[in-house]
Amino acid sequence: MKSRSNYFSCFFLLCLLLFVSVNSLEEQHNVKSSQFPDGFLFGATTSAYQIEGAFLEDGKGLSNWDVFSHTKGRIKNGDNGDIADDHYHRFQEDVELMHSIGLTAYRFSISWSRVVPRGRSGKVNFAGVTFYSKLIDSLLLKGITPFVTVSHHDHPQELEERYGGWLDPIMQEEFTHFAQICFERFGDRVKHWITINEPNILAEMGYVTGNYPPAHCSRPFGNCSAGNSDTEPLIVMHNMLLAHAKAAKLYRDHFQPKHGGLIGIVANAFMYKPLRDNDFDRDAANRALVFTTAWVFDPLVLGDYPPEMRKYLGSLLPRFTSDERNLIKNSIDFIGINHYGTLYAKDCIYSSCVCSDSSCTAGGDHPIHGYLITLGEKDGVSIGERTGMPRFFVVPKGMEEVVDYMKKRYHNKPMFVTENGYSSLNPTTAQADELQHDTKRVEFHKAYLASLAQAIRNGADVRGYFIWSLMDNFEWARGYEMKFGLYYVDRATLDRVPKLSAKWYRDFLTNSSLNGEETGKAISFKNTQSR
Ligand code: FCB
Repeated sequence: MKSRSNYFSCFFLLCLLLFVSVNSLEEQHNVKSSQFPDGFLFGATTSAYQIEGAFLEDGKGLSNWDVFSHTKGRIKNGDNGDIADDHYHRFQEDVELMHSIGLTAYRFSISWSRVVPRGRSGKVNFAGVTFYSKLIDSLLLKGITPFVTVSHHDHPQELEERYGGWLDPIMQEEFTHFAQICFERFGDRVKHWITINEPNILAEMGYVTGNYPPAHCSRPFGNCSAGNSDTEPLIVMHNMLLAHAKAAKLYRDHFQPKHGGLIGIVANAFMYKPLRDNDFDRDAANRALVFTTAWVFDPLVLGDYPPEMRKYLGSLLPRFTSDERNLIKNSIDFIGINHYGTLYAKDCIYSSCVCSDSSCTAGGDHPIHGYLITLGEKDGVSIGERTGMPRFFVVPKGMEEVVDYMKKRYHNKPMFVTENGYSSLNPTTAQADELQHDTKRVEFHKAYLASLAQAIRNGADVRGYFIWSLMDNFEWARGYEMKFGLYYVDRATLDRVPKLSAKWYRDFLTNSSLNGEETGKAISFKNTQSR
């Protein structure tokens, strides 16, 4: 009798599981823009160095990325951003592309070295100001809301040479000066400001692993000629947070009252799951979130670094004075997250950590990474489908989870997903038309949007979603090989060709029935993590 009832409960459970997973697949497939709140913004993102080109035109000065990409061996295939997508000359056409998709917002960044090529010690470059002014006007004419990032990884090389860039607190004043010019020139038309894009990635890539300028690192994180991976990332983050806070105060005191806009910051925000089902790895997954994302937002919302970071980093972690605490606390009107995937976290305090695949981060025995490693594989099985980026795995549920985390930790502050995107797995070997028929990208965005819609139903105050990227572009150290665009860019002619994903986004935004039919039902990312 007992075994019979066991049999029935197992059967019932199986049916339930099947029902839930079929339902979530169904939801993912049917995600509609009408499921999002009124006024929700749907956009796409780019950044100045990755698309503009015109690297020394009309008075622009050299940036740290110009110099870095011209240094032999730094960028895949020796690529650089000298021409990039030539957006500087083709911006009108690009605004037309956005309009044809039906975007309601566009996030782009301003090249610091185009507007103030020599920082505070030089003049404003009016040609640079005019370029952005025209871009903003063209967007507004088409009813597209400009989301402007003041600094997205690039700054004048002169500031790097004169001060050592973000390692010097003087960059706080330099940044505020640049931001002030942006607020003065564009603030009458721009109502959404992002001070700095991903200070956590800049600190990691520029000062822990050394893959971005100024290529600082120490062992075991990388092999660089200068740097200290244990301390420098903490210093540059400190300066960027204070730079943000000073610029935000300036905006709030002098511009917000008349312009009525909002100011925020964007951090990279992966989701982390425990590698093994035990308390050590559960703690490690929590620490991973803290040492990457809360590192940025705790100070700016709550007024200080996360207690967990203080515990493990001790005196290595800089301190804010009480005046600085007052300045940084509550210095954002909204949270911006760039979400690209989910990784496993493994504790390295109570067990030893060795990295064996390309998705794993070295240095788990160092406090800078919170005594843990993050990786995409468990027992040879990846956490989600692989993409072209070794650490970006497709786990749609991670979107809901990371948004839930931010909602709880920061008292449901308004949030924007400022980047989410998919890079093709084999961009080198694929043919142009194969790259344009990007069913995987379509399924990726559908699944992530469905997960975001669930987070919103759970109560998160999310107000917009931006696809990285409008078009294929210069993907930093990976050059042009890594492609995230809704538009394919022919590298020989620089023609933009809409991919299937561009057509899908257009149909999604108009709630058209084409959704799902043309994209092929064969490929679906599972909305679970059970892999
Ligand atoms: C983010 C960057 C963006 C782009 C995507 C793929 O970290 O903000 O510029 O490189 O990754």
